[in-house]
Amino acid sequence: MKWVQPDPKRENWYWPTEALKERAWISDPHIYETAGADPVHFWAQRAEELVWFQKWKETHVDEPYAYKWFVGGKINISYNSLDRHVEAGQGDKVALIWEPEPTQEPNRILTYRELLAEVSRLANALKRLGIKKGDRVGIYLPMIPEAVIAMQACVRIGAVHTVVFSAFSAESLRDRLLDSGARLLITADGYYRRGKVIDLKLQADQALAGTKVEKVIVVRRTGHPIPMNPNRDLWYPELVQGEKDFCPAEPMDGEDLAFILYTSGTTGKPKGVMHATGGYAVQVYATAKWDFNLHEDDVHFCTADVGWITGHSYLNYGPLMNGVATVVYEGSPDYPDFGRMWQIIEKHKVTVYYTAPTAIRMHVKWGDEWPKKYDLSSLRVLGTVGEPINEEAWLWYFKLIGGERCPIIDTWWQTETGATCVQALPGIGPFIPTVAGRPFPGIKAKIVDAGGQPVKLGEGGYLVLEPPFPPALTRGLYGDPEKFKATYFGEFGPKLYFTKDGARMDEMGNIRITGRVDDVMNVAGHRLATAEVEDALAQHPLVSEVAVVSRPDDIKGEVPVAFVLLKAGAQPSEELKKELIKTVDKHIGPTARPAEIFFTEDVPKTRSGKIMRRVLKALVRGEPVGDITTLRNPEVVELLKQVVGYKD
Ligand code: WT7
Repeated sequence: MKWVQPDPKRENWYWPTEALKERAWISDPHIYETAGADPVHFWAQRAEELVWFQKWKETHVDEPYAYKWFVGGKINISYNSLDRHVEAGQGDKVALIWEPEPTQEPNRILTYRELLAEVSRLANALKRLGIKKGDRVGIYLPMIPEAVIAMQACVRIGAVHTVVFSAFSAESLRDRLLDSGARLLITADGYYRRGKVIDLKLQADQALAGTKVEKVIVVRRTGHPIPMNPNRDLWYPELVQGEKDFCPAEPMDGEDLAFILYTSGTTGKPKGVMHATGGYAVQVYATAKWDFNLHEDDVHFCTADVGWITGHSYLNYGPLMNGVATVVYEGSPDYPDFGRMWQIIEKHKVTVYYTAPTAIRMHVKWGDEWPKKYDLSSLRVLGTVGEPINEEAWLWYFKLIGGERCPIIDTWWQTETGATCVQALPGIGPFIPTVAGRPFPGIKAKIVDAGGQPVKLGEGGYLVLEPPFPPALTRGLYGDPEKFKATYFGEFGPKLYFTKDGARMDEMGNIRITGRVDDVMNVAGHRLATAEVEDALAQHPLVSEVAVVSRPDDIKGEVPVAFVLLKAGAQPSEELKKELIKTVDKHIGPTARPAEIFFTEDVPKTRSGKIMRRVLKALVRGEPVGDITTLRNPEVVELLKQVVGYKD
């Protein structure tokens, strides 16, 4: 697509300052044309910036459902994150800054040399325990340096990590350990959250029955007493003590499996998204560098948990492959007060801050006085991810946090894409509230209708990616090749990857994401299927049927709302609602709690007996319910209007 010179005075379009342009890796918009003319060559150029033990034979193979990148090349992500910088004389540079939640506790700061030594010790210990290339390792850790160390140690020896968010329940952990066939788990005694100790080991213990996990490595974080199983559990410090502080990095093929990360699809069962080593490394490295304009002196603060893809790519691998300092914060943004994030930025002179719209909206609610107390002048670039950002939050972020000097890089991507795909670049712009931007150079995206045909400019449709697919795009779903084909290529065939997002595009090629078009919700930046919440609630013994839909929320973006049908004889009560919430906590975790539970006698159903969630969605949103003539029980709609307090 050609670069269209836009009207520079367009309202609400912001442009890079001269200072930004000067520092930017990329400030000439022609990059979009040159990269677009030969994307394969473009990505090969990006790949050249990393260290390969052996150069790839084929840059890209475009086979249906089996696209490949950097075939025959040998590379290691951990080598590129650590050794590369140490060998270049940067060993004494800060790699990781850990900020514990308790304010009286000191920071832990690791240089590249120290981090390499820590990672090596654990990698050697893993090998000693019999972990080999291709073996799956579960990681269930809070936001402590060991989370980064554990991930790096795995990719260093070619073991496949599957990180599980520490706020997920024991049951969620078990599902993921079972599905991935993990042989080992790395966890911790606990962590701090809003000043309280959370017992993580307890959760981990409950998850292990029936899994293939033979050994559990336990990091000592809180020091509170926990039960240790002498045949299975190993204390981390004792385990790594005496291990050599260097472990050679395993040469991995470009297409070798790097890691699995589970995410929500439209069913109750999470999908194991697989990422390939070479393509993931290259796109994560290049996007981290260009999106945030990373240079040696940057201090990068990504607020995402390591349990999400954002934590994988832009807290751990992206910043470290770029040789910058990455900040890891253990706790809650409101502890000990609402100024904590801004205090961290001031204290560590953070230059890049990457967070989610839901967090920004929370800060807006907490009030301007908090950021105003702190010196935020070190900031250069701001980022957002996870959901569409509303204009109010965007402008607040731009003015109060960025001092109207920092661009907001609104990055669109997914667990499946592994790295950012749509965003404005800091040296080029424009930065437009609610608009993510253009596809990254070398990435081809378009908006199509239900038939797969491009829609007219400005019209809404489905966002799809076109070949050559981005190097970091998932290579499949663990153990389920058919589901992979059906989920992403079922609608439009193998030549169009369906993102499941609605979008529209302007004349410059800027893309505005309008939200998911499947039954996936985005709750406070956490991806969640309505079916997962339904499955969890349905496990309560008094529930006979349940339907969950999403409702917009000022802070969280979206929240689940549940319609629950009880078994004969069961009585609705506030007590029962509380029990249902506990059921959700147990099966998924508190992030999935419904914002509201309605008890009802019936839900709208089609003649074939399928729940018509569209009608429920309209009801909780106060929108017109539309055509209900195909319902078997249209009378229920009137009833439900009273239940939810719907006004015609
Ligand atoms: C879904 C993917 C990618 C890391 C965090 C989420 C939504 C993501 C944006 C954005 C509008 C966005 C999409 C996408 N999303 N970024 N900048 N603007 N929507 O990863 O959990 O895999 O969720 O998040 O709906 O499909 P995820």
